Amino acid sequence: MFIRKRRGWEIPEGAATPEALVFGRRAALKAAGLASIAMPGLARAADFPQSTRNGRYEPGRAITAEREVTTYNNFYEFGTDKGIYRPAQKLPLSPWTVKVDGLVDRPREFSVEDLIKAMPVEERVYRLRCVEAWSMVVPWTGFPLTALLAAVGVQSSAKYVRFETAALPAVMPGLRQSWYPWPYVEGCTIEEAGNDLSFLVVGAYGKPLLAQNGGPIRFHQPWKYGFKAGKSLTRISLVAERPKSFWEAIQPQEYGFWANINPEVPHPRWSQASERVLGTGERVPTQLFNGYGEFVSGLYSGLQRERLWG
Ligand code: MTE
Repeated sequence: MFIRKRRGWEIPEGAATPEALVFGRRAALKAAGLASIAMPGLARAADFPQSTRNGRYEPGRAITAEREVTTYNNFYEFGTDKGIYRPAQKLPLSPWTVKVDGLVDRPREFSVEDLIKAMPVEERVYRLRCVEAWSMVVPWTGFPLTALLAAVGVQSSAKYVRFETAALPAVMPGLRQSWYPWPYVEGCTIEEAGNDLSFLVVGAYGKPLLAQNGGPIRFHQPWKYGFKAGKSLTRISLVAERPKSFWEAIQPQEYGFWANINPEVPHPRWSQASERVLGTGERVPTQLFNGYGEFVSGLYSGLQRERLWG
């Protein structure tokens, strides 16, 4: 099926900063300030917090075996096959900093160690549905994007969040494939960023996040196809213009900006009606918004003219 491409200028602009980005700013700032003393040399694993599970987002499906999640991956910087966990071990995960800049009151570079101490870290079991029609269920450790944005203060002119991920030619052989538009960039609207489900992930299965899964820090919005989840983030920028994402730059008629999950809208080359659940041998029906519609469908009212799916 041919999917009509919509243009960036068709977006109605929401002027207000979402409430969640404003409330809680004081608490987040206080926490960020407390944790700003660097603690060099702490081993990632030894220092990793055991966090409480947030029961609000139960996935309704069994957690996928850790081995599947850590050995079947998409991370094109390390290669195009699913076994990139081997070369990915060369990625140096500590020290690691993430710059938060652009249209914010207090631009800042955070070390991941400091973020783990300062942010409201918890466990959330999320589904992940890849555009390639496989899926998994993972207990991620992380914190809502809203907490980080509250710490830097989002300006009202910010309309989008742009995520940039690591590009380290010395350890990432995929970067030699110069026809790809490196670095891997992704983005979402400020309204989507303000949804509590938007999650910055620093761990999985109670341990620090492994390189192959996007360690030490990645993004995830579980109602969108997995390619929206930038791995090994280095920079988060608040911007006025819609960022052009990696896959959109390569193949805009197949991978859109919104990339919300909808079983009724096929990829131009395959159906999205069902998905293969990793590690189970099962094929199950795909759900609208990956089953998270009650939390996110309101984000899209008034945007029916956008190409919201796929
Ligand atoms: N992030 C970067 N930097 N590079 C990538 O190639 N692949 C994306 C996403 N994030 C990718 C990325 C895709 S297509 C998917 S499905 C998920 O990561 C896969 O995450 P997982 O390997 O942890 O399952």
